[in-house]
Amino acid sequence: MDIIGVGYIGIESPNIDAWRDYGPNVLGMGVGVAPEGDEQSLYLRMDDRRHRIAIHPGPIDRVSYIGWEAVGRVAFNAAVEKFRAAGVEITVGDEALRKLRGVRELIRFTDPVGFQHELFYGQKWDPHSFVSGLPNRRFVADERGLGHIVVISPEYTPALESFLIDVMGFHWYGAGAGKGKTGFFRSKLNNKTSHDIAYGLRPGSMGLQHIGIFFATLRDLGETYDIVQKRGIQMQMTLGQHTQDPHLSFYHFTPSGFVVEAIHEFEPWPGDPFELNPERLSLWGHEVTGPILGPSVRPLEDFQ
Ligand SMILES: [Fe+2]
Repeated sequence: MDIIGVGYIGIESPNIDAWRDYGPNVLGMGVGVAPEGDEQSLYLRMDDRRHRIAIHPGPIDRVSYIGWEAVGRVAFNAAVEKFRAAGVEITVGDEALRKLRGVRELIRFTDPVGFQHELFYGQKWDPHSFVSGLPNRRFVADERGLGHIVVISPEYTPALESFLIDVMGFHWYGAGAGKGKTGFFRSKLNNKTSHDIAYGLRPGSMGLQHIGIFFATLRDLGETYDIVQKRGIQMQMTLGQHTQDPHLSFYHFTPSGFVVEAIHEFEPWPGDPFELNPERLSLWGHEVTGPILGPSVRPLEDFQ
């Protein structure tokens, strides 16, 4: 499937008011216009797309859907055919849902471990319309998507890997340097980073562990770091450089109990001409100063 990456995500949260402050004033994201029929939700922008992250009202903090972007209509139609041929149950998004997401067309489906996904193309876009929440804050999004996501999965099965690799056409990066069982995957058209999504195994639990978003400049990242420090926001890992994607990043908790890995790419991703087996998680830094699994990773029953 000709997928670019994660185009948008939807989060459910009882803490939208906290997000209305955190999104623009800590991350510096722009605040979009909530579409008709969903005025209670918060739509956050990172670029000239209508939105990248939607926070919807809900009783608990959890990821509601992960939206993958097909490069265009032809790729989308081919992907729909592939899902059908593989026997994957898909729901075609109706006009109301297309309007909410601001896309031409979309389908919905779940992966073999139960996460809700969407595939779309043609999200609404208005050139030079992005206004950041903080002066001059800019993100790397545009043709790359919103960044990467890491979920915790109650199971890690051959069916999951087959779904991601054989049906969705993702590239298998490897298992990374962690001690647990985690698989890293990137979409076919992503040649800039090691993963768009990773699944980490934790039996009995499920949830969003972190999202990685890319800040355009080192100053953007540094100013975000200052704000997180000044506000006393719970950190998870200090500044550091991973072996897998050797960029500068730090991890802190959002109002929804999952983490944002704030990243600035300051050297090109070296690629993976063969399966890499890193000796260690990071070249330097990334000292763990908070829980690895926050309250967004929940008992399985909360998702049923
Ligand atoms: Fe990350």
